[in-house]
Amino acid sequence: MPEIKFYKNTPVPLELHRVEIVKQLSLLPVKERLTKMKEAGFNTFKLHNGDIFMDMLTDSGVNAMSNKQLAAMMQPDDAYAGSETFFRMQDKLNEIFGISRCLPAHQGRACENILATRFVKPGNCVIMNYHFTTAKAHVTRNGGHVEELVKDEGLKTESDLPFKGDMDLDKLKACIKKEGADNISFLRMEAGTNLIGGQPVSLKNFRDVTKIAKEHGILTVLDASLLQDNLFFNKTREAECKNMTIREITRAIADCFDIVYFSARKFGLARGGAILVRDEDLFHSMEDLVPMFEGFLTYGGMSIREMEAMTVGFDECMEMDVISQAPQFIKWCVDELVDYGVPMVTPAGGLGAHINAMEFVKHIPQEEYPAGALVCALYICGGIRGMERGTLSEEREPDGSERFASVELVRLAMPRRVFTLSQVSYVADRVKWLFDHREMIGGLRFTHEPATLRFFTGRLEATSDWPEKLAKAFEKDFGKDC
Ligand SMILES: Cc1ncc(COP(=O)(O)O)c(C=O)c1O
Repeated sequence: MPEIKFYKNTPVPLELHRVEIVKQLSLLPVKERLTKMKEAGFNTFKLHNGDIFMDMLTDSGVNAMSNKQLAAMMQPDDAYAGSETFFRMQDKLNEIFGISRCLPAHQGRACENILATRFVKPGNCVIMNYHFTTAKAHVTRNGGHVEELVKDEGLKTESDLPFKGDMDLDKLKACIKKEGADNISFLRMEAGTNLIGGQPVSLKNFRDVTKIAKEHGILTVLDASLLQDNLFFNKTREAECKNMTIREITRAIADCFDIVYFSARKFGLARGGAILVRDEDLFHSMEDLVPMFEGFLTYGGMSIREMEAMTVGFDECMEMDVISQAPQFIKWCVDELVDYGVPMVTPAGGLGAHINAMEFVKHIPQEEYPAGALVCALYICGGIRGMERGTLSEEREPDGSERFASVELVRLAMPRRVFTLSQVSYVADRVKWLFDHREMIGGLRFTHEPATLRFFTGRLEATSDWPEKLAKAFEKDFGKDC
């Protein structure tokens, strides 16, 4: 999406696609939304999609497909073993990343399971710029621990650092010294760092970090799930990349790593995943885990139709007109809210607009899950479903005490090619109303707390009758049908 100049009107991000298939949405009245939130145990994962107006939970597997992707889905080669669909996918990935060996898996966390099962032994350390929930859960499940070495400024919610996902090189050297290179299973860099607000990593940092790792014989792994956003920021924020094509930047990043894996629910605009392995012996050392956990080596638990769609999607993720839409919409939304005084993560990243809940509802203590409470309040007030990315998304310490997240965020994800700017404007408007009524929002407590990944399946309740009071105030301002 190039910056299109406007004559008189204030420029806005412009979609370079047109909508040909639509899905009707409905907006439940506020009283019903309150009931639905209670039924969902104040956990937005447990809402039914039919009760949601704007689903901004995630961009994972909910991106709109193109006509070319849909057409490709009609021509799969269905075979348990040796499907031509797989070889088309493998060839495309080799063309883009320059890595010829591909292990298919049903989604990103399945790749993480295979990598952790193969490489993490009890007591091992895995170095990351920042963790992702499932990536960390698989490491700890295998007895390892994660060291997060993102630069300190990456965790500052407001900043003008262009690459907040960069790893701190001094921290990296110190960590290798402390842990010992032999005890480090691998170093995992996450492009478009999810949990700190979709913040990118510079090409320079990818190079510097992996150079140090290689000097110590440490295996290097790229999580490319959010690579397409990262590429947009490399191209628009990093001097070295300005005159490179998206494909050239992709190759320069991939060249730094021994292994690249991704969730194709994001990278590829379909549903699936894969691990790309440069070294033949390494590849063979993981091969048997695919039929064991996923499916045969030429489908890995994926639908072959989806594999055809993602092969086209990989090409689309190499097009600036495609990958620039979400970051531009996100920036538009963040700018709107920052102008109003709402505490947002800046600079705007990829993936979604992120509200700094620690600041927005600073009266709610971290043990009452401020980001979790804010995300529920937003559903009640707008039918908008976001995702908590804070203490609720953490797991407790081994002694049962809370591990407080370094940042408490509400993520409003921007699925690709799905929403129009007027819908994004509605979201910004409801956030503004909530900001003006933020004192009314109270805390949450667990009524059912699973030991692992509790944010997916846990149930909570409000610590007072704040949701009822909030819904009433909303109804007073907007009427009961809104
Ligand atoms: C950076 C990153 N890695 C891994 C995953 C896991 O992928 P999946 O949801 O396909 O299991 C995600 C999902 O959101 C992600 O954002």
